[in-house]
Amino acid sequence: MNAITGIPQGIDLRAEIDRLRKERNAVILGHYYQKPEIQDLSDFVGDSLELSRKAAETDADVIAFCGVRFMAETAKILSPEKIVVLPDMDAGCSLEDSCPPAQFKAFREAHPDHIALSYINCSAEVKALSDIIVTSSSAEKILAQIPKDQKIIFGPDKHLGGYLKRKLGRDMLLWPGVCIVHEAFSETELLKLKAQHPGAPVAAHPECPPHIVDHADYIGSTSGILEFSKTMPGDTLIVATEPHIIHQMQKAVPEKNFIGAPGADGNCNCNICPYMALNTMEKLYLALRDLQPRIEMEEGLRLAAKKSLDRMLEMASGTVGQGDLGTR
Ligand code: 13P
Ligand code: SF4
Repeated sequence: MNAITGIPQGIDLRAEIDRLRKERNAVILGHYYQKPEIQDLSDFVGDSLELSRKAAETDADVIAFCGVRFMAETAKILSPEKIVVLPDMDAGCSLEDSCPPAQFKAFREAHPDHIALSYINCSAEVKALSDIIVTSSSAEKILAQIPKDQKIIFGPDKHLGGYLKRKLGRDMLLWPGVCIVHEAFSETELLKLKAQHPGAPVAAHPECPPHIVDHADYIGSTSGILEFSKTMPGDTLIVATEPHIIHQMQKAVPEKNFIGAPGADGNCNCNICPYMALNTMEKLYLALRDLQPRIEMEEGLRLAAKKSLDRMLEMASGTVGQGDLGTR
């Protein structure tokens, strides 16, 4: 037994995770930004919208969520009867941190004639204070259903909000949050990389700032970018999002070449999400064995947050990926 981790020495972690998954009647959901070994053992790998749908539909008793806390909270909000475990409870998100509920509430109260559209990367409390939740793969489709004269607050991601404003010509009040991972891409280094690979398209997540998305041939959610990698012209793609998604691209189209867009120092380590990286095989094994750390939520908060999530699921209904932000 390893005294620090409590994990018996020499065990086959993958085999033990598979055994516990069966024993617990658990489903393992993994985001595209997880380490390859976690993606490969997940029952389902997807973007935020797809994972929310899976969490709402599954008949498993336990959801082991390999992603970040707001994603596991979403699973609990949609499936309260299930045990939802997150391998590391410290797996947060800079967007969530940028939007404290009390300040968001005050902002809403200062703009009573606005509805609040919130990116799913926020706390359950902020979801409860919002009218409709969106993900990057559902935002455009949902915005198109809101009357043009309706005033809107969009939070917490100012880059996704700004991109939607520019693309759809909608004037929205933006909360000033950013994703520290997508904020770290360097325009100078991206232009150098483009010069080294003439003609290679760039795919970017809309959490990137304008000086990055302005160079992109395709802008969309993680699932949208993955789809683009399969259908794009040419054999090389520059990928401006968290680089672990490249694992799925290499599996889908091994003959193509995928290059992560660089950060300011010319290498892309600063673009690995430090929160997503907290989940490990060891912690997943312990979470399935001990059914801890577990997401718990007060019922009043859950019901309030569920309203805005349900509205998203209704408004985004249709094929997964449909309504994605798409090619510029
Ligand atoms: P999507 O997977 O919905 O594109 O979201 C990306 C992200 O940053 C999740 O935190
Ligand atoms: Fe949050 Fe950015 Fe990490 Fe996604 S990549 S979880 S938005 S910090």
